[in-house]
Amino acid sequence: MKVAVVGATGLVGSEMLTVLAARNFPVTELIPVASERSKGKEVEFKGKKYKVVTPDEAIALKPDVALFSAGGGTSTEYAPQFAAAGITVIDNSSAWRMDPAKKLVVPEVNGDVLSAEDKIIANPNCSTIQMVVVLKPLHEQYTIRRVVVSTYQSVTGTGVKAVKQLQDERAGVEGEKAYPYPIDLNVIPHIDVFQDNGYTKEEMKMIKETNKIMGDDSIRVTATTVRIPVVGGHSESINIEFDNDFDVNEVRALLAKQPGIVVVDNPANLEYPMPKDAHGKDEVFVGRIRRDESQPNTLNLWVVADNLRKGAATNAVQIAEKLIEKGLL
Ligand code: A2P
Repeated sequence: MKVAVVGATGLVGSEMLTVLAARNFPVTELIPVASERSKGKEVEFKGKKYKVVTPDEAIALKPDVALFSAGGGTSTEYAPQFAAAGITVIDNSSAWRMDPAKKLVVPEVNGDVLSAEDKIIANPNCSTIQMVVVLKPLHEQYTIRRVVVSTYQSVTGTGVKAVKQLQDERAGVEGEKAYPYPIDLNVIPHIDVFQDNGYTKEEMKMIKETNKIMGDDSIRVTATTVRIPVVGGHSESINIEFDNDFDVNEVRALLAKQPGIVVVDNPANLEYPMPKDAHGKDEVFVGRIRRDESQPNTLNLWVVADNLRKGAATNAVQIAEKLIEKGLL
């Protein structure tokens, strides 16, 4: 299979190359794509060097599938051109996620919605992905009424510039700023742009995307998204109210048997998920599983995942694997 990675020089793009190699995705030819600035640069994949091309050159090379992670503008402009040339696009930007004609997919949650007419498939927001992986089996078992989530998000979600800002601040050197305030030794309750309702766009993504992926608008969601000086992954405190009551041990067992979920929940041994342990892993880690004692049928969880992996690159590659499994690619 000929695979194009659009944004191959970026943080998510390079993680896509790592994941394609690690999962032994059937790549016969790799086409790394970036902006005009990077044309001719070399990218390594499975010990071989490949020259970076522009999006226009990539279309002419006719890949079977293109994984996009080069920002919303690039996706808006080029995804339709790739699709028109018969290339299946899996897009990591927010450009197509809420388009009613496009599928928004987390394979283990709603992979069954994929069909032959899907030429541009949207990869959800990183914070949404790791949350819905956990919500899905719980919803099937106990029926979710309402979710209250607060996030603790890694600087890697902002891109190369943000990682550099954190490193520069740690080293005490002046440099370019990705955030309006210092991020080291700080916490910024502001991710993406503010909306008229006082929420940020990131918070609204978590609300709307959850309903779309779960295929259930009756689930009420509210979110507070926060940037913290961490690089390994995103953490989330999730409070879930159900229609039905549950047993905490049953919840733990139910989550532990899901593919893609690892339960790390042993307070007696001080075992709980942390971004430093999730870093570089494809799974979603769940711990601090306990009853919310302030009201009936309500659960508290702590969920951690590498936002560049399951939150972006891994999920995109898993969508491609699902297409192959269904004979659609
Ligand atoms: P380039 O390195 O040539 O700028 P990140 O989010 O980690 O900063 O990465 C963004 C990625 O998107 C990079 O690979 C970047 O390539 C790519 N990119 C940005 N603008 C374009 C564009 N107009 N066409 C293709 N790729 C682009």
